[in-house]
Amino acid sequence: MLNNDTIKLRVEELLRQMTVEEKVAQMMQIPFNITGKEEALRWAKMGAGSFLHVLGDDAREIQQAAMSSRLGIPAIFGIDAIHGHGLKHEATIFPSQLSAACSWNPEVVEEMGRVTAREVASDGLHWTFSPVLCLGRDTRWGRVNETFGEDPYLAGELGAAIIHGYQGDSLDAPDSILACAKHYIGYGEAMGARDAMDTQMTYRKMKEVFLPPFRRAVEAGCASFMTAYGSIDGHPFTADPKTLKDILRGELGFDGFVVTDWNNCESLMIQQHVAATIEEASVQAAEAGNDMIMSTLPFYEAALSAVRTGQMDEAVLDDAVRHILTIKFRMNLFEKPEKVGVPGCVGCEEHLDAARRAARSSITLLKNEGMLPLKGVKKVAVIGKNADDLNSQYGDWTYFTHPNANEPRPARRPYVTVKEGFEALCAERGIACVYHFGCEVKPTAADANGPALVDPVAEAIRQQSLSRLRQEDDIPGAVEAARDADAIILVVGDMIDQYGEFKDRADLSLSGRQMELYRALRALSIPMTVVLVASKPLCIPEIAATADAVICAFNGGMFGGQAVAEAAFGCFNPSGRLPISFPQHSGQLPVYYNTLPGWHGGRYMDQPATPVYAFGEGMGFAPFTYANLTFDPATLLATVDVTNAGDVAGTEVVQVYMHDVVASVIRPVKQLIAFTRVDIAPGETKTVTFQLEKADFALVNRDEQLVVEPGEFELMIGHSSKDSDLLKTVFIL
Ligand code: BGC
Repeated sequence: MLNNDTIKLRVEELLRQMTVEEKVAQMMQIPFNITGKEEALRWAKMGAGSFLHVLGDDAREIQQAAMSSRLGIPAIFGIDAIHGHGLKHEATIFPSQLSAACSWNPEVVEEMGRVTAREVASDGLHWTFSPVLCLGRDTRWGRVNETFGEDPYLAGELGAAIIHGYQGDSLDAPDSILACAKHYIGYGEAMGARDAMDTQMTYRKMKEVFLPPFRRAVEAGCASFMTAYGSIDGHPFTADPKTLKDILRGELGFDGFVVTDWNNCESLMIQQHVAATIEEASVQAAEAGNDMIMSTLPFYEAALSAVRTGQMDEAVLDDAVRHILTIKFRMNLFEKPEKVGVPGCVGCEEHLDAARRAARSSITLLKNEGMLPLKGVKKVAVIGKNADDLNSQYGDWTYFTHPNANEPRPARRPYVTVKEGFEALCAERGIACVYHFGCEVKPTAADANGPALVDPVAEAIRQQSLSRLRQEDDIPGAVEAARDADAIILVVGDMIDQYGEFKDRADLSLSGRQMELYRALRALSIPMTVVLVASKPLCIPEIAATADAVICAFNGGMFGGQAVAEAAFGCFNPSGRLPISFPQHSGQLPVYYNTLPGWHGGRYMDQPATPVYAFGEGMGFAPFTYANLTFDPATLLATVDVTNAGDVAGTEVVQVYMHDVVASVIRPVKQLIAFTRVDIAPGETKTVTFQLEKADFALVNRDEQLVVEPGEFELMIGHSSKDSDLLKTVFIL
């Protein structure tokens, strides 16, 4: 890689040669999926800095045009490779971020990033708009599936891991791509979980709760950040120099470039109404610290006219272009404008294995009254639409949800749905296996909120590629199919119309007739495991109380179904833990564990105080017990003994929480500050050690400063965030 001084010199040298037009063009990110090829080529010749949503050969052709522009500055090509290079038909598809977060395993998440980088780079592309570092706290929000869950520390650790995976050791490696920490910041904290609305946040709260994962991203060397759609106290993030300059560049020391989200710039005028003209909007966005403008084509003329008329200083453009060019030099694009990846790696066996590992690590067993692992069964009945619906298993951001005209459908093998996973394992074991669809997941008029809006794109895709899944509800048929089985696997969940951008839900109970199906099957009194193939926690209190076993798979990617079946048969011992809490009822939201104290009554009168399943919960086939918590406040060293009290080997995720007993601002009842995974043999006890740091006990005070206030603290270590799972010690710091 070129050294920093050389890069600085070359950037300044190039900047000196650039006209105002070329500088503004360098800030443009052109949406190929909107412009089409001809227009994209025209922009490339004008020196546009970046393109998005263009794959393979089209990207290569556009890059050649960019290289033939007056200064020959290479463009960078960005894509939403969110859980694998999913918009590409042949790619390896991993579990969603939320699903992968259940692994609490940075190594698995890093591998997911590495494989994705190789596949994206092999397509000649440079950059993924990932990871999402927003927190999923009010789970009515449509994009919870894209988060690493509700906790800032866990999101930060997994975020740093995937960033390492994407960027590798050096940005100029042939198979490294740029990561993009998004959406900066607080996007998930919108009022009422309404996508892109004003956030329920102050700057202090932002810094304490929402900034930590982004700080980790900067520490991990993340090369780009994406601005959030929302606003803070009525001020759009796109136009907020305090978040983009003072905090991001000033406090965090970020040295990459910032891209707006989709048409954020024009939204200042047409949605948020803080700019009367596109010129005003463009000046606000550029001056606030956005370096690259995604998909606002009028920015070009508007920025030029603003400079000509003196509304904007050319130095604003210089700063933005400097940031972009620096990364292009760090990627060595001037010598090698195309990423080449690893030839033949897209969807190769090694990558598919990584997807299998990720799917297995994300399986979270939430309840097991002795039904699992399945033993001595002669017939298994697998029931439910999501047991055999690939789109629901994949979730958002694949070629199903974001189809590309050049990409064929239907889906490419290998993938394994839950139905297929059971069929294969049952066949190997000489067990009979039947499948029945049961009922639709799609909301009906009988749902609490009536039929949901139909997403026309999703509907069109279903019609083209998944017509075999369009069936009539047949609950009696499902009951008949299961009647003589000795194990029922019922798969419930949601569908793509119910999540993603623009798709928040008011009601998170199971849609359609899924509860009716559950009750009808339950009445058979046959052991029943309920599997959740869903984008997020849904409200399943009755199932949690009455099913024999519950497995959470979320959107498990290509091998999500195989992992469920393997877990059910005990082929591996599940070790997933929830990165997010399950509410009893939508009206109980938000229900995240690290709440502030002070609620008079501490609960809604008509709901329990606790969630159905808490953050950090999850079990395997062996119970773990905890004893002998020690903590030395002088060295900040904590130890605890963890015993595998079962008869199979297992992996425990040891979780460390702290609480600041008296502080100058109200502190959460507990806050995760560390965790580790430990493999423990049956009957074995391991002493687990955590070297904590003072900064783990910090808060953001009223002056928005990150400080550690001396005084009394509690340290809690155990199996989950539930008080009953934690050993506690009190100390003075
Ligand atoms: C989303 C981003 C995404 C971008 C480009 C936006 O609407 O909010 O997450 O990266 O589109 O597709």
